[in-house]
Amino acid sequence: MASYLLGVDVGTTGTKTILIDGTKRVVASSTVEYPMETPQPGWTQQDPEDWWQAAMQSIQAVLQKAAVPQGEILGVGFSGQMHGMVALDRDGLVVRPAILWNDQRTQAQCDEITQKAGGAEGLVKLTNNRMLTGYTGGKILWMKQNEPENYAKTVAVICPKDYVRYRLGGEIATDVSDASGFGLFNVQRRAWSDEAIEIAGLRRSLFQKAYESYEVAGRVSAEAAALTGLLEGLPLTAGGGDAVIQTSGSGIVRQGVLGVVLGTSGVVAMGLEGFKPNPNGELQLFCSNESGLWHGIGVTLAAGGSYRWFRDQLCGAQAKKAEEEGLDVYDLLSAEAEGAPAGCGGLVFLPYLSGERCPYPDPDARGVFFGLGLEHGHAHLNRAVMEGVTFSLRQVAERIYSTDASIKPEMVILSGGGARSALWRQMTADIFGLPVVTIEGSGEGGAFGGALVAGVGLGLWKSLAEATGAPREATRNLPRPEAQAVYERAYALYSSLYGALAPAFSAAAALR
Ligand code: XUL
Repeated sequence: MASYLLGVDVGTTGTKTILIDGTKRVVASSTVEYPMETPQPGWTQQDPEDWWQAAMQSIQAVLQKAAVPQGEILGVGFSGQMHGMVALDRDGLVVRPAILWNDQRTQAQCDEITQKAGGAEGLVKLTNNRMLTGYTGGKILWMKQNEPENYAKTVAVICPKDYVRYRLGGEIATDVSDASGFGLFNVQRRAWSDEAIEIAGLRRSLFQKAYESYEVAGRVSAEAAALTGLLEGLPLTAGGGDAVIQTSGSGIVRQGVLGVVLGTSGVVAMGLEGFKPNPNGELQLFCSNESGLWHGIGVTLAAGGSYRWFRDQLCGAQAKKAEEEGLDVYDLLSAEAEGAPAGCGGLVFLPYLSGERCPYPDPDARGVFFGLGLEHGHAHLNRAVMEGVTFSLRQVAERIYSTDASIKPEMVILSGGGARSALWRQMTADIFGLPVVTIEGSGEGGAFGGALVAGVGLGLWKSLAEATGAPREATRNLPRPEAQAVYERAYALYSSLYGALAPAFSAAAALR
């Protein structure tokens, strides 16, 4: 029986395609990058054509590298950056550049929808979520109000991975996890909320069929087969939003196991067995990649992104040294941070460089180094950035635990670029007070999850739990009581700062 699966992840910096075999071994992988436009501060856009070109090239490259007989490939699964608004006209052409998940232009539209729904509580009743600036719903209303001619032309709105699947020959459709991220989907019923769409004043016909992630949503067309080298008729499964499917792929499908992805954004997620309430809409409560499974998620917008900012802006000398000595600058910085003590002697970093989402949904929030003294040097600044990001992730995890008293956190599965740092892995164990493991394959991110979920849909595994079962552990770190005690005090200080600074963040926003 054919047992190879392709996973395509349409990310923010590039599209990655992998081919895995039936034992979940990655046989070949290829990534093709593309740019992101920021036409105004706080705005982010991409051209969907770039995703398509990158998908074609990476699929071709993987097929060439792997050189497995075409008939042995079972199908294609997808993952993608969530919330991106891809507006299509009646000919299936893109109406305007896609507005991305990290775009902050829609606060006024989010406020309008929330107010019309009778406040955040009213909206949570309909959709189980609040309307965050990242979400697709506010972006569609922004287009209606600011580009009425584009809104009039639009007949369908889908997400980034849906667009690539469509270009490969799939239907114009989405899946339940990405639909959850519109902020207009009844997550409990796994169906669009007609009421929320009406309240938002949007045309119901824009919202497409939301498949379960493992379901087949089209087949490779003759044209796409000629362009990519895939067999015509190969099944294309619906796939899922990356924040959900990359954690599903790491085995976060059981209550108690927490997934933390230390990527550009930091994603904290837990599989929830049964629907759970979302008090105050603080979490992103989304449908997961299997019927009957949900995901509680919270996002720290600038996690690895804060560390990259630190590297780019404040580490010129270290970058030079790394280049001269042929080292990875992140390895060098991680070693330097070991030189500062846990808790950084009262120096605290708030990672709100792109505004924040969870637990503080505030686009005006900004990054802060708090408590700087003459005694602090580069190593302290460095370590404080890692610690601040990790404190933020712990706050998100605590919001997830609070959805149900029966949740007993057991362990963290850590992935993403930050998981490569031994210091960051140990710090996560100490700050969360939980064992932290990394597993083989999770470095492949959403593409791996996409391929596994496709395997469930195409009959290779019976369930997501079976597909992700028995992961191979790469590293394991246990919490150390002494460091935990220091971090508890630093965490309390961290947690007190946002409330104290919120008025100052608004005042600073007025200056921008
Ligand atoms: C999830 C989110 C991000 C993007 C990043 O809600 O906005 O994780 O999906 O790709």
